[in-house]
Amino acid sequence: MRAAALRQIFIHTFDIVARYFFGPTEANRMTSPRKILVTSALPYANGAIHLGHMVETIQTDIWVRFQKQRGHECYYVCADDAHGTAIMLSAEKAGLSPEQQIARIHDEHLADFNDFLIDFDHYHSTHSEENRELSSLIYERVKANGHIAERTITQAYDPEKGMFLADRYIKGRCPKCKTEDQYGDNCEACGATYSPLELIDPVSVVSGATPVAKESKHFFFTLPEFADYLKTWTRAGHLQDEVANKLAEWLDAGLQEWDISRDAPYFGFEIPGEKDKFFYVWLDAPIGYMASFKYLCEQNGLDFDTYWKADSDAELYHFIGKDIVNFHALFWPALLSSANFRTPTKVCVHGFLTVDGKKMSKSRGTFINARTYLEHLNPEYLRYYYASKLGHTVDDIDLNLEDFVQRVNSDLVGKVVNIASRTAKFVQKAGGTLSATIAEPELWARYVEQAPRIAELYEAREYNKAMREIMALADAANEYIAEQAPWSLNKTPGNEQAVLDICSLGLNCFRAIMMFLKPVLPETAIKAEAFLNCSLDWPETLDFLGEHQIEAFKPLMTRIEKDKVDAMVDASKESAPVAAPAADSWLGKEPVADEIEFGDFAKVDLRIARIANAEHVEGADKLLRLTLDLGGETRNVFAGIKSAYAPEDLIGKLTVMVANLKPRKMKFGMSEGMVLAAGPGKDELYILEPHAGAQPGMRVM
Ligand code: 2FM
Ligand code: ZN
Repeated sequence: MRAAALRQIFIHTFDIVARYFFGPTEANRMTSPRKILVTSALPYANGAIHLGHMVETIQTDIWVRFQKQRGHECYYVCADDAHGTAIMLSAEKAGLSPEQQIARIHDEHLADFNDFLIDFDHYHSTHSEENRELSSLIYERVKANGHIAERTITQAYDPEKGMFLADRYIKGRCPKCKTEDQYGDNCEACGATYSPLELIDPVSVVSGATPVAKESKHFFFTLPEFADYLKTWTRAGHLQDEVANKLAEWLDAGLQEWDISRDAPYFGFEIPGEKDKFFYVWLDAPIGYMASFKYLCEQNGLDFDTYWKADSDAELYHFIGKDIVNFHALFWPALLSSANFRTPTKVCVHGFLTVDGKKMSKSRGTFINARTYLEHLNPEYLRYYYASKLGHTVDDIDLNLEDFVQRVNSDLVGKVVNIASRTAKFVQKAGGTLSATIAEPELWARYVEQAPRIAELYEAREYNKAMREIMALADAANEYIAEQAPWSLNKTPGNEQAVLDICSLGLNCFRAIMMFLKPVLPETAIKAEAFLNCSLDWPETLDFLGEHQIEAFKPLMTRIEKDKVDAMVDASKESAPVAAPAADSWLGKEPVADEIEFGDFAKVDLRIARIANAEHVEGADKLLRLTLDLGGETRNVFAGIKSAYAPEDLIGKLTVMVANLKPRKMKFGMSEGMVLAAGPGKDELYILEPHAGAQPGMRVM
């Protein structure tokens, strides 16, 4: 009785303290359940889900599970992004109709997400009746408001295939530097940007035919009319500050009208009232969020308008990657507001995934498909690892495979599960009923105090900080148990109650930790609920279990074995579509050039350079800006190596540069030289590095 009364006093006191410091904030507002609709970006229906996609779905799923655990009415919808030229062409290549291909991919995607414990309330397709109706409705409303313009434009056209060609479907020689095999929008070699019609000897990637210029009528969303609206909206708390700052740059530079139509043949929805004109895939893709939810509403008797009407007080969250911010934070709110629907509460933007510090690479075996991962490893390992890395910023996160093994084993197995495995047997021995005595009130008080803080961190998507707090609590429980050493006390008769009290507190700590980790480890949480014989819902105030019967302990999680990770990487290498060709076949692909005189070669001044700095170039897909130290002077060089290297992997390395190349003015600034790299390009490219001993500035002969 005394202990129970004491417990109530502690709980009450700490609740008041916690509220004073932390709440009642959004995360801890428990009295009125919030209505929340959450989405993650729609994966294209022409490729497998990989661990890069999983950053986003895991991040979103954790947030949704947290909201549900807190008792809010929260729905999580997603869909396959099924339209567009790429999907039309890939289906054709596979000998399938687009409908057959998207059905097959839909099943694969859903199976991957299910097996990663992603708990969608519904997973739809943008090629659905709900989406057709909503896309038409939004278009009609936007048009009626005068926000659709019509214009005739000239584009490259493939006369053989009978289709207009987007820039990436045309290749030719760069009009500036004459390098072969460059895409229709910019040159990977010199960084020049141009229109596809300027390419020398252009060919259609689709048929090999020479494209011709052709006119057609297009429909545009008059985005510039929303400039003032968007300037306000992007600063109204819907975005992370760093995202709002980036958008401010674009808004200040001026917005362009957005081309929302494509000509037939196109796999998509025909524009109402027009013939052979289709909605551009990016028009109906975000509307796919609404369509997926609409389907869910129809199946479950929910009210669609409650969530989407203009003055809705429900909340709407979109989780997306930083590459598609313009679609979600400019076009989308403008479109929704024109069509008299509500706009997002928050667009939550995350960074990209690197593996072992580099961009995912098929040749290195680090481009890992979700299915390949699942064939080797438990999904909860990755869920926890990502949670331990994910903050609320747009910084990239790195899956370091060694750290992954170490962190999961040490935190989940070594700290969390360990609390239960070393205490449960003593409670079982005493009959399986926990003691109501809080043996170490200070320890428990720390748990009660931290609970609202951890909830805040989940709410703010600061999972990395939440995981740190949770592991600190696990450390405290383990230290307490180690100090008390129930296994030693147990040897002396008369200590039975003390042992039971210590282990009961240990198991209450374990329960709290599993409650905090339930959004991240849903399966282990279910096992813990069975073992502890109670739910792991997250109440407003953390309660001590009191006298409570538990079940026999069964192992909850096993360690990651490093050889499973190695096997996964090997399997990812095997599944790469293009195996590295034998060395001599490179010569076959690119025969040695015509003989030159020594004097011709000697004109090229090759020098050793130290990469003093490397950084991304805003707006450039392929380039990194390198600062090269020649041991006396520095050079600014733009190198088309972004897809093969992360900047941080290059800094400090020695390489070889052409030091007397005439400086070239590129879109992003002057390039004063060129670094040497081997390989076919894209993510398979290797910069040259000299043997140890070479010094910056040394001439290479
Ligand atoms: O970038 C992509 O992968 C797109 N398929 C995302 C679409 S998200 C939404 F707008 F539909
Ligand atoms: Zn060029």
